[in-house]
Amino acid sequence: MLPALLTESLYFTDGQILEEVYVYGSFTQSKMYHRDVRCSDCHDVHSVKLLKEGNDLCLQCHRAGEYDTKRHHFHKKKGEKGEPIKSSDGKVLFKVGTGADCVPCHMPGRQYMVIDYRPDHSIRIPRPDLSMKLGAPNACNRCHLDKTDKWSDGWLTKWYGPGRRPHYGTVIEAGRKRLPQARKQLMRLAGDPLYPVIVRATALSLLATFSGKDTTEAFKLALMDDEALIRRTAIDTLNLSHQKDLVRIIGPLLYDPVKAVRMEAAQRLAGQPEKRLSSQERRVFQAALDEFKTSMMYSADFAFGRYNLGNLYAALNRPEEAMRNYQAAIKIDDLFYPAKVNLAMLYNQRGENGKAEVLLREVVGAHPEVYDAAYSLGLLLAEMKQYADAAEFLEGAAKGLPQRHRIQYNLGLVLQHLKRDAEAEAALRGALERAPDNMDYLYALADYYMKRGQLKNAKSMAKQIIAKHPGQRIGHELLQSIERSLEDDKK
Ligand code: HEC
Ligand code: HEC
Ligand code: HEC
Ligand code: HEC
Repeated sequence: MLPALLTESLYFTDGQILEEVYVYGSFTQSKMYHRDVRCSDCHDVHSVKLLKEGNDLCLQCHRAGEYDTKRHHFHKKKGEKGEPIKSSDGKVLFKVGTGADCVPCHMPGRQYMVIDYRPDHSIRIPRPDLSMKLGAPNACNRCHLDKTDKWSDGWLTKWYGPGRRPHYGTVIEAGRKRLPQARKQLMRLAGDPLYPVIVRATALSLLATFSGKDTTEAFKLALMDDEALIRRTAIDTLNLSHQKDLVRIIGPLLYDPVKAVRMEAAQRLAGQPEKRLSSQERRVFQAALDEFKTSMMYSADFAFGRYNLGNLYAALNRPEEAMRNYQAAIKIDDLFYPAKVNLAMLYNQRGENGKAEVLLREVVGAHPEVYDAAYSLGLLLAEMKQYADAAEFLEGAAKGLPQRHRIQYNLGLVLQHLKRDAEAEAALRGALERAPDNMDYLYALADYYMKRGQLKNAKSMAKQIIAKHPGQRIGHELLQSIERSLEDDKK
């Protein structure tokens, strides 16, 4: 199964698309938004014009004596003597005084269409230390182009001291890398109403890859959250070990007051056996599904609208319609790779592996950083018995996604076909190191040693299986069979 890919970049509360789509960072991520500052505190809502000029805009709420001073920003004001920042050929890039403006330091912007200044509305504190750690941009170095992140960070330490406040960026990064320590931090972030909702939703979506009782509980809480985006994300990313629980857990959200949540619930329940729904639920389900289709048909000129319809029909087990919509998405935007990946999965299910291969090779060629696509291609090629190519793509995916131990396991199996034994063993060992209790990995290694007559090693694996899964017969049977072979050897 393919991991779920990002579906839409827009979100809405009850059908309303937020305006923020055209400003480059989202205001809803900011602490200010969280404290009920609104667009209308800075903009005239009809003309979008700013209510005040320069720093006065911010000094409506922030004290001038504290922030509009050198003690805060350490830069010279307009009119003071100083050296502007110049390009290497001597052109003035930033005049003296620009370093003392609140907006470029807290809302760094881009010039669009020459005259339109569009600042980052997420209103952040410049963090060159995070640039060094995570590669995130920082405001200082957008002006100080000739300096390093380290240079800026050194000045911040000099000005404000060595301490830095914790930032959710590090948690999100650890979650994306699937580091084990991210689990607890992601749960805390997802459930903490003091963080911006979009940050919490991101944390929740990352939590989906950490399965366990505690994370399932976190998702159940999220389904009852006050914020629609959290409920919607929970429906979208919830991982259940038993499909039959899905209706019981998601069903009630078909009645959600927010349309986006109802539609997500209907989409998630699509493909469930009808008998699991009561007749009442079936009616609400159909209504929410219709809302979803209408909404997506409305955006059918965009690749994502077609893509979402494709996913819906795939879930409803209507592959012809699904394929038609994926193909339409690709026709609209040839670079929209999620449609290609999911279309490839459909081809694969229908046994049309040649077509699937062409699509996945296109995606991997155009987006080498989408390691999940390389992983899928590796699995597909293995299925097609093209082991050498399969190994190459699986190796790439394993390097790009080091915490995904399953890839190492798959790689280990493929390398055995290529008779690259030492590498195969190392890959299987690598998988087991990251997930020491995993039965598939334990068994694969036992099998590897048995097939190569390394009975002592095989025996030790069998003992590990018994120790870790005492209730399962397979370990005991394996041990018996190995012991019998060892006896035979002695004779
Ligand atoms: C804290 C003040 C502040 C808040 C709150 C704020 N903005 Fe802005 N916004 C700015 C500043 C400063 C600019 C840059 C304007 C310029 O220099 O021309 C800007 C620019 C914009 C622009 C580009 C304007 C243009 O002429 O193209 C848009 C669009 C915009 N804001 C939308 C929004 C929306 C929507 C919200 C609420 C979600 C919002 N802003 C909230 C300060 C703010
Ligand atoms: C309508 C009032 C209002 C206006 C106007 C306003 N702010 Fe704020 N700002 C706030 C509030 C409230 C907070 C949250 C304070 C807190 O929780 O500590 C805040 C917090 C901040 C923070 C801290 C953010 C963080 O993540 O810790 C920064 C930086 C900031 N504002 C910069 C600006 C800048 C720059 C402007 C002008 C473009 C501006 N503010 C305009 C009310 C305002
Ligand atoms: C040269 C960059 C720069 C300029 C210009 C600047 N700031 Fe800041 N601001 C910072 C940095 C860096 C911090 C974090 C300081 C720290 O860690 O103590 C900060 C923090 C803040 C905070 C959060 C304080 C807190 O303790 O949470 C607010 C609010 C703020 N600035 C408002 C403003 C306002 C209003 C202006 C304009 C009058 C302004 N800043 C100008 C760099 C700047
Ligand atoms: C909007 C552009 C702009 C931003 C953003 C900005 N600066 Fe500056 N900076 C300037 C300009 C212009 C000067 C020269 C005039 C002066 O000294 O204020 C300067 C001067 C300096 C200087 C002293 C001169 C030097 O080169 O040694 C330091 C140090 C400095 N900035 C550090 C920072 C740091 C750290 C940040 C981020 C917190 C930052 N600046 C953000 C424009 C900017």
